[in-house]
Amino acid sequence: MRVAGSVRVPGDKSITHRVLLLASLAPGKSRIAGTLTSLDARSTARVLRQLGAEISPLRLDGATTVQGRARFRRPNGHLFCGNSGTTTRLLLGLLSAHRFSATLTGDRSLRRRPMRRVTTPLMAMGARFVERNGDGLPLTVRGERLHPISYDMPVSSAQVKSAILLAGMAGEVEVALSEPHGRSRDHTERLLRAFGYGVIEREGRIYFAPSGRLEPFHLEVPGDPSSAAFLVGAALLADAGELQIEGVGVNPTRTGFLEVLARMGAKTQVDNLSTRFGEPVGDLLIRPARLRATEITAGEIPGLIDEIPLLAVLASRAAGTTTFRQVGELRVKESDRLGLLAESLRAVGARAEVLGDDLVVEGSDRVPRGKVRTAADHRLAMAFAVLGTLPGARINIDDMACAAVSFPGFPEVLRGIAVRSRR
Ligand code: S3P
Repeated sequence: MRVAGSVRVPGDKSITHRVLLLASLAPGKSRIAGTLTSLDARSTARVLRQLGAEISPLRLDGATTVQGRARFRRPNGHLFCGNSGTTTRLLLGLLSAHRFSATLTGDRSLRRRPMRRVTTPLMAMGARFVERNGDGLPLTVRGERLHPISYDMPVSSAQVKSAILLAGMAGEVEVALSEPHGRSRDHTERLLRAFGYGVIEREGRIYFAPSGRLEPFHLEVPGDPSSAAFLVGAALLADAGELQIEGVGVNPTRTGFLEVLARMGAKTQVDNLSTRFGEPVGDLLIRPARLRATEITAGEIPGLIDEIPLLAVLASRAAGTTTFRQVGELRVKESDRLGLLAESLRAVGARAEVLGDDLVVEGSDRVPRGKVRTAADHRLAMAFAVLGTLPGARINIDDMACAAVSFPGFPEVLRGIAVRSRR
């Protein structure tokens, strides 16, 4: 197949969550263009409305306005966070500094995801929690006057890091943090700096000082590199042409997948670099490539955590054996992403194995055919849809609708570049 043309991807999911949260606590009217309109973004908007923010409907064709208030108000009813771990964990941080009780819950996938990784440090800061389902959801938070914290995070996680930083912001206390290995995405740090908060990194630790103030803002959310990654993958698997993806966020804590793909033999190019609200943005240009295997180290994992399904699918087409080191964290994503990824690769005829916490994928030229079980995990569905673009492939994905969690319209966009390619 041939690829051609220029496309855009929806707004960045991580940045959308964060700007909606911050705008809701900035007294006055903020205006956000390019907001992601996916199910996860809607979950954040919905719970913020329950907490007193006035947020216009999230629409593809217009900016979102947010009328924020200095403090959240006590919500009526449970805060239903849908499928979104980011919504839940970041909100737990903010609610830790609000002196009322709120109960958070979510869909079946979210209810089984671990929350003690955020409640442990937030409790050490003074917040109180009532567990209603062990480590999972529902969970009740009761905010208190918070104390400063110095904390060594046991897992590298932007959600945990952000929950603690946002608690520090809303509770006006200092925070010092370290991550065990690698750097997770730093959007929260960049945004807080833009509002005058002290956020510095020294010798692998992050120091936060509550010296800033949230004010209403205007911002345009860049395209999500994690969504772009699937189109990059489809373009790499094509046999001719080139694809441009415009206006994609290229924050270095998010583009680890491009570095790995370069090692695998891909030549991707970033053009027209600019900076929006502290975030680098550019156009990606991708040409098909013959891929070779590589090893992805534990330190690289936080910078490409969401791209592992796509990279594993590409590794199944690369010459040689690719190893992803220390990816046990994938077991607690939207699904047991590690187990399902290996199972689905085998189901379509590829060789893949989980060895301890490592994922090992062997490349081959076999035409992929078979049934894929996603457990409603959007990134598994999209990764295997990319594999399905190979000539002769017949991949039956049990749930493609779940792509709307992060990338509304994904099947159409993917088909669009393929249609163009057949002309
Ligand atoms: C996210 C952080 C990551 C990522 C998720 C979004 C964020 O999770 O997998 O899709 O916006 O902070 P962890 O921080 O738990 O690894």
